[in-house]
Amino acid sequence: MHRVVDLEVLYFGTPVVLIGTRNPDGTANLAPMSSAWWLGDQCMLGMGTRSQTSRNLARERECVLNLPSADLVEAVDRLALLTGSPETTPHRVEKGYRYEPDKFGAAGLSQVPGEVVAAPRVAECPIQLECELVSAVPFGAGTGATAHTVRVLRAHVADELITPGTDHIDQLRWDPLIMKFCEFFGGGTQLFPSRLAEAWQIPRPATSR
Ligand SMILES: Cc1cc2nc3c(=O)[nH]c(=O)nc-3n(C[C@H](O)[C@H](O)[C@H](O)COP(=O)(O)O)c2cc1C
Repeated sequence: MHRVVDLEVLYFGTPVVLIGTRNPDGTANLAPMSSAWWLGDQCMLGMGTRSQTSRNLARERECVLNLPSADLVEAVDRLALLTGSPETTPHRVEKGYRYEPDKFGAAGLSQVPGEVVAAPRVAECPIQLECELVSAVPFGAGTGATAHTVRVLRAHVADELITPGTDHIDQLRWDPLIMKFCEFFGGGTQLFPSRLAEAWQIPRPATSR
C-alpha cells in the first residue's frame, strides 16, 4: 500500500562533501554540501548560485572535493550555518547563517595545499579529490542553483581505505558521512542532531525527538 504524498524535501540520502575553494584574496573557503554524484572521472555538484563556493568555482575553475567519514560529523555540523560570502541575505540571517572568513578554524579542521590545484584539501578527510571545473549551468527553474560538473584530476586516499594491491577503496572500511533529509547518518544510524535540519525546520526522526 502506497500513499500519494506531496513531499516537501527530496533529500533521500547522499554523501557529504566538503568543497574547498579559493577566495578572491587567496584565502581558503570550505563548504559542506551533499547534492553530489559521480560518473566516470566526473562529478556533478548542485550548489546555490549565490554561495561563495559557486562564485569561487566560476572564477578559479577548480576545487577540492573532501569526503568526510562519519566520525567527522561534529566538524561538518560546525560549518552548517556559515558562509564565506560577506553578503548574506536577510532570509539567511534570520535562519542563523553568518559570514565566517576562517571556515577551517571554525570547524577545527586543518588545511593541506592541493598538489595540482590551488584550492585547499582537508587533512582530516580520508578522501580528497583535486578537481577542475568542466561546466556550470543553471539547475532547474527557480531553484537558484547551479549544476557544476567537475573532473577529478588527482585522488588522495588514506592508506587504510585502499584494498591492498589494488587501486580500489575497500567498501567495508569506508564509512561516508551521509546526509538524509537534512540529518546526519553513518553506518546506517543517525549520528548527531543537525543544525541544518533545525534551521530549516525539518522534522526530526521519531527516535531522536
Ligand atoms: C550537510 C550539508 C549539506 C549541504 N548541502 C548543500 C548542497 O547540496 N547544495 C548547496 O547549495 N548547499 C548545501 N548546503 C548548504 C551550504 O553549505 C551553505 O549554503 C553554505 O553557506 C555555503 O557556504 P559558502 O557560501 O561559503 O559557499 C549544505 C549544508 C550542510 C550542512
